[in-house]
Amino acid sequence: MSASSPFAIPASGQLILALSKGRIFDDTLPLLAAAGIVVTEDPETSRKLILATNDPNVRVIIVRASDVPTYVQYGAADFGVAGKDVLMEHGGEGLYQPIDLKIAACRMSVAVNAGFDYDSAVRQGARLRVATKFVQTAREHFAAKGVHVDLIKLYGSMELAPLVGLSDAIVDVVSTGNTLRANNLVEVETIMQISSRLIVNQAALKLKRERLQPILDAFERASSAIP
Ligand code: ATP
Ligand code: PRP
Ligand code: MG
Repeated sequence: MSASSPFAIPASGQLILALSKGRIFDDTLPLLAAAGIVVTEDPETSRKLILATNDPNVRVIIVRASDVPTYVQYGAADFGVAGKDVLMEHGGEGLYQPIDLKIAACRMSVAVNAGFDYDSAVRQGARLRVATKFVQTAREHFAAKGVHVDLIKLYGSMELAPLVGLSDAIVDVVSTGNTLRANNLVEVETIMQISSRLIVNQAALKLKRERLQPILDAFERASSAIP
């Protein structure tokens, strides 16, 4: 494979940034612009998974949101952007997390059917069925409260689970609350505030510091301007 192939493993002068399509990609673009980097292809219209930028030494790979930490941990990407929710589930092993970028802000919450008396169920020591994509976070949250739960792992559309009797409660991210309202669910507990962090491969931070540091500094300055 020639060194100029878009599929080559990153050489030492090359930087690979892992992003997910949608809100993380969209909200990272202004931060990249602050570092003078412009992505020249659109992941919504292109089927390409390796996107070029105006800097021949910087490329963006498009992966699932929950896979971003894995690509960075193994060094297939030098750095990436991932939500705190995703990082809590991944565990953060092998990752340096220098900057809270404050983008993709939301909260992780417990929600139930509007008619379900969550507080009484908890007081009475009921065993709750909880459907979620975030099993580690949910397990820790309910263990800390001393609530016994059966966790049901889902990969999306969590709001459906209580409506069809799959679970008593869900743990999911909430922003406007529109999805909960549209499905007649109510938020009964906030577990934590969520935003996205820059994550950096620990070896890349040492070996490519000269290339990475100006970008990290620009991200830091641009994100500190976000309220
Ligand atoms: P996938 O579609 O691959 O399952 P995903 O649904 O987690 O992944 P996104 O919806 O793009 O992917 O979410 C990326 C990150 O944005 C999440 O990890 C979370 O931190 C944050 N996020 C999720 N939903 C919202 C929301 N409604 N408002 C603001 N931020 C959100
Ligand atoms: C996320 C999340 C909730 C919704 C909350 O879904 O899983 O369903 O946002 O946001 P709200 O409080 O503003 O309604 P997303 O939009 O990412 O769709 P997805 O199911 O494709 O992940
Ligand atoms: Mg989503």
